[in-house]
Amino acid sequence: AKPVIVAIDGPSGTGKSSTSRAVAAQLGLSYLDTGAQYRAITWWMVTNGIDIEDPSAIAAVAGKPEIVSGTDPSGPTITVDGVDVAAPIRTQEVTSQVSAVSAVPEVRARITELQRSIATSAEHGIVVEGRDIGTTVLPDADLKIFLTASPEARAARRSGELKGADVHSTREALLKRDAADSSRKTSPLAKADDAVEVDTTELTLQQVIECVVTLVEEKR
Ligand code: C5P
Repeated sequence: AKPVIVAIDGPSGTGKSSTSRAVAAQLGLSYLDTGAQYRAITWWMVTNGIDIEDPSAIAAVAGKPEIVSGTDPSGPTITVDGVDVAAPIRTQEVTSQVSAVSAVPEVRARITELQRSIATSAEHGIVVEGRDIGTTVLPDADLKIFLTASPEARAARRSGELKGADVHSTREALLKRDAADSSRKTSPLAKADDAVEVDTTELTLQQVIECVVTLVEEKR
């Protein structure tokens, strides 16, 4: 089979990561979590005391940290300057600041370039998940999927992952982050015109995986 490039976009809590990983594993493709890269650069900014409120301060150092993503779907990895940051990038501190950092054009330019080089060098093809993959990073992807779900379903899934976090505050934080991601000037969260929209509200994870696998197989 020829290398196939799959772009999976959508807001938080739609099952993007679980779906993308499982589809990649099932089809023998690489997997790239682009949100982890934005979280990683945010972690570096926070750790180095960069003022997150100041886009020019962020822009000035956007090229500094070296971010390396491991693309094996059975165990994706992420390091910043050689440090494993898989756990610290999931903290509330990073989650609440990532939208501000990822809105800075210099950050996006740099991470986008990294994503394109990873995608084009994947031998058997790749599943790339994020917010702007189909629209901006890989506009020529073989298949574009846009996952959606009701805010209630998304908040319920997220608070489940966060082990009993309050559904209400999870919902507020999640909607706030999506609004920021959708309204930024540079490559906002958006559905590409040629993306297939899948509403996952009433579907199990297994059903979403099967649906996407079928769509990929049609492209191969
Ligand atoms: O997918 P995840 O929730 O880990 O993404 C974290 C944040 O990274 C998003 O809220 C968004 O601000 C940013 N992001 C982005 N573009 C992408 C992927 C993630 O701006 N392609």
